[in-house]
Amino acid sequence: MHVYRKIHSMTSPSTATVLIPDKSSNITSLFDLNEVAYSYAGGHSALRNITLRIHPAEKVAILGANGCGKSTLLRLMDGLVFASSGRFSAFGSDITADYLNNEQNSFQFRRRVGYIFQNSEAQLFSSTVREELAFGPMMLGLSRSEVDQRIDDMAKLLHIERLLDRAPFHLSGGEKKKVAIGSSLVVNPEVLLFDEPTNGLDPRSQRWLVELIMMLHSAGKTIITATHDLSIVPEISDRAIVFGEDHGIAAEGHSRDILANLDLLLRVNLIHEHAHRHGSQVHSHAHYHDNAHEHTHDQG
Ligand SMILES: Nc1ncnc2c1ncn2[C@@H]1O[C@H](COP(=O)(O)OP(=O)(O)O)[C@@H](O)[C@H]1O
Ligand SMILES: [Mg+2]
Repeated sequence: MHVYRKIHSMTSPSTATVLIPDKSSNITSLFDLNEVAYSYAGGHSALRNITLRIHPAEKVAILGANGCGKSTLLRLMDGLVFASSGRFSAFGSDITADYLNNEQNSFQFRRRVGYIFQNSEAQLFSSTVREELAFGPMMLGLSRSEVDQRIDDMAKLLHIERLLDRAPFHLSGGEKKKVAIGSSLVVNPEVLLFDEPTNGLDPRSQRWLVELIMMLHSAGKTIITATHDLSIVPEISDRAIVFGEDHGIAAEGHSRDILANLDLLLRVNLIHEHAHRHGSQVHSHAHYHDNAHEHTHDQG
């Protein structure tokens, strides 16, 4: 059982009250994957032989090129798909379809893990932002005044007070992302799974999101972020797990060391090599995909 303490003023003196788990928890690993494989219907392999652990209050990046299995891994960690072979346990219990078919188990698991989809639209279903934020706390059985308090807290934390009576579908991409994050955070999960969170956001929203992730981490949350945006990795993670295009883990280590390993990043298709001609000399260097810049290439 977790003891919850209240953290005030996480971003500014007027900011929301957010409940966070007490770090005195004696669990040593939150998630434990043992030789997990997963194949979609039709036998399409998406995860191969995945063994990894996630510890409380870690911030971890899941890196890899498109199609290597990052989203599938997050879906598995959110109990939306189940290992075809191998074991996934969370908070000390094996997470299987049978386990989550039990309402009590499912309730406990879902309140502890929040998943922010890559595509916020797929996550939003209510007719107003207020209802969207109310859904989780109502499922928890909180009283109307507690639900309202949570909505207020979230709206302040995410600066979306003026959006509360708007329809989520009419919001901008960045606003939808905030509402989707709010609808996950509002039940105060311990673990947050972010899938390509900066994708499709303008630079200011991207910056805001990276800072939010850092703030949530310093408030005690465990943060797992799938991304192929290497520019955000140093801030959103301390540890990086790198997927290869064979859907297995190609490397794991301190984010700084992983980012410095250009051979690895080239091999897993996270960066590419450009050859340039400077006069008569050909020179090649590595590029991050997401930080594309202009080149002039001599044709001669
Ligand atoms: N719903 C699905 N049905 C069948 N195959 C899928 C489905 N979703 C993903 N895949 C396949 O599984 C592999 C891993 O995909 P995904 O987890 O989405 O990778 P990533 O998030 O790293 O881009 C890819 O080969 C992809 O084509
Ligand atoms: Mg993906």
